Amino acid sequence: DLHRASTTAPVNIAVIKYWGKRSTTLNLPTNSSLSVTLSQSDLRTHTTASCSHSFNSDSLLLNGSVQDVAGARTQACFRELRALRSAIEEKDAAEPKLSAMPLQIVSENNFPTAAGLASSAAGFAALVRAIADLYRLPASPTELSRIARQGSGSACRSLFGGFVAWEAGVEEDGRDSLAYEVAPASHWPSMRALILVVSAEKKGVSSTTGMQATVATSALFPMRVKDVVPQRMKRMEKAIHEKDFATFADLTMRDSNSFHACCLDTTPPIFYLNDVSRAAIRAVEGINAKAGKEIAAYTFDAGPNCVVYYDEENEALVAGWFKAVLGSVEGWDGARGGAVAPMGE
Ligand code: DP6
Repeated sequence: DLHRASTTAPVNIAVIKYWGKRSTTLNLPTNSSLSVTLSQSDLRTHTTASCSHSFNSDSLLLNGSVQDVAGARTQACFRELRALRSAIEEKDAAEPKLSAMPLQIVSENNFPTAAGLASSAAGFAALVRAIADLYRLPASPTELSRIARQGSGSACRSLFGGFVAWEAGVEEDGRDSLAYEVAPASHWPSMRALILVVSAEKKGVSSTTGMQATVATSALFPMRVKDVVPQRMKRMEKAIHEKDFATFADLTMRDSNSFHACCLDTTPPIFYLNDVSRAAIRAVEGINAKAGKEIAAYTFDAGPNCVVYYDEENEALVAGWFKAVLGSVEGWDGARGGAVAPMGE
């Protein structure tokens, strides 16, 4: 009685950042966010979900090492998916009782885990989709995003390709805190992301811990949540629809800086950027100054690694400049380029 399904989920990198929770148990955010999904040939998680009565208990293997499945986040995902499967089994007695069987999840990342490269986003998105496929749930990506969010907030955005928003929602149970597609990758096929791996080490302050501290202590943060982000969300969606790269870049850089300013405004302060990150910022500012307009945009998550967005037409300028400027900076491990592409559905 072995049942099995495999899937992959891509990494997404936010251009309007999720930072702050209004519920820590349900991973409900204080503000909406927007991301670009990266090509799966560069960064992705591959997950196989199996279930069988012959398994002793639920288990999770990530890159060959055993993970704790007792954590509230993984348990929430398992519970929600089993409930949806049970409903199918109750309606149709011919359906095998998969929801009663222990689950075995095997995941592989093709990039460094927990290095600030959004591994939890691809990880939980792949876990939820693999189990949904195993259970043959008729759930849409938006419905699955509600479940993946409970694993890791940013994971809800990895159920879609292209340009994706996560609506913060207002309901206490989180039923309206969902991801939706702003535009498919095919809408803006010349968009590119360059990943500058500054450090592949595990990050210092986890995003969960960091955002809690910011919510509790930063005086800048309430302004970001109330006025700054809602306006930027609207302008960013418009810039994407109009393929207005200069506005997209301006908002992306401002929002990364606003997020890191809130980190610095946290007590005690949180430092995610290092000297190499700051050199990357100066390099992008230099490229844009030389071009006389924004042709590249930097953004940083909860770590020192830099993601640079640019349009393919400026590939030579942007990639060439980075090699010239950062090639001599100590601590720079190299760059990886990747096209933005849909999830292959
Ligand atoms: C800086 O999704 O990792 O990357 O919900 O606690 O799992 P949890 O946090 P997580 O936070 C990501 C924060 C960020 C910004 C973003 O991706 O929007």
